[in-house]
Amino acid sequence: MEPSQVAIIGSGLIGCSWAMVFAAGGFKVKLYDIAQQQLTSALENIRKQMKETEKSGFLKGALSAEQQLALISVCTDLKAAVEGATFIQECTPENLELKKKIFGQLDLIVGDSVILSSSTSCLLPSKLFTGLKHVKQCIVSHPVNPPYFVPLVEIVPHPETDPSTTERTYALMKKIGQSPVKLNREIEGFVLNRLQYAVISEAWRLVGEGVISPTDLDLVMSDGLGMRYAFIGPLETMHLNAEGSCSAAGSFRQCCNTLVH
Ligand code: NAI
Repeated sequence: MEPSQVAIIGSGLIGCSWAMVFAAGGFKVKLYDIAQQQLTSALENIRKQMKETEKSGFLKGALSAEQQLALISVCTDLKAAVEGATFIQECTPENLELKKKIFGQLDLIVGDSVILSSSTSCLLPSKLFTGLKHVKQCIVSHPVNPPYFVPLVEIVPHPETDPSTTERTYALMKKIGQSPVKLNREIEGFVLNRLQYAVISEAWRLVGEGVISPTDLDLVMSDGLGMRYAFIGPLETMHLNAEGSCSAAGSFRQCCNTLVH
């Protein structure tokens, strides 16, 4: 059953954006942080963003900005924040010890059906969740900044995550209008950053070897490859570039052999 109430732990850049995504999906959101002042400015920030997006016609969801704002409440008590929530999205700073401490605290107060999800950009689930009593309910849901406007979410399970946790998280992300992808196992950098750093690495090499200027290198992406990849991925591009992927591999064999390591 889908949750009607979620808790967001940490009300910074990503926490606020997740709160807006869930409110747009019609969920009640409890936003938790350690300082009331931080929560006050987070709410102000959310209100401003919602009003602006509503004015410009980009507000997500079927509800008005005021209706969505009414769904969000703030709290400095962790137990009260997660009470009644069936999905918890952790958005605290990228610090392993801090996140382990928070998941350790959550582990002691949650029931057996809530999903404990982390926004971490690069900490592996096995580092975050190993040893928790509720490890089967733990998962990484890595957003792209800002999740309100960029829909991709990488769903990365711990080796002991129950498949139903993955499926429920995937279904929830779909329901709130995100675009989830499932990793079958954890891997350093997940997938988006592995692809991103492959591109960055080659960009540095080409500029460093004097093949192209930094300005022109960036143009290759913004006015060329990036425009294509905004619509279709590299595998589909390859498939459509010839009569299927096998044909493409055959046609461009010489080029591919030189370039793909
Ligand atoms: P941020 O620094 O903007 O926000 C962190 C929030 O956590 C702050 O409001 C802070 O007061 C709060 N916090 C600190 N200690 C806490 C505690 N013990 N309990 C509860 N809240 C606490 O960080 P940001 O950028 O929002 O990142 C959050 C997470 O999202 C990180 O794991 C980051 O790697 C991940 N992420 C960030 C992206 C980005 O581009 N900023 C993109 C995708 C994921």
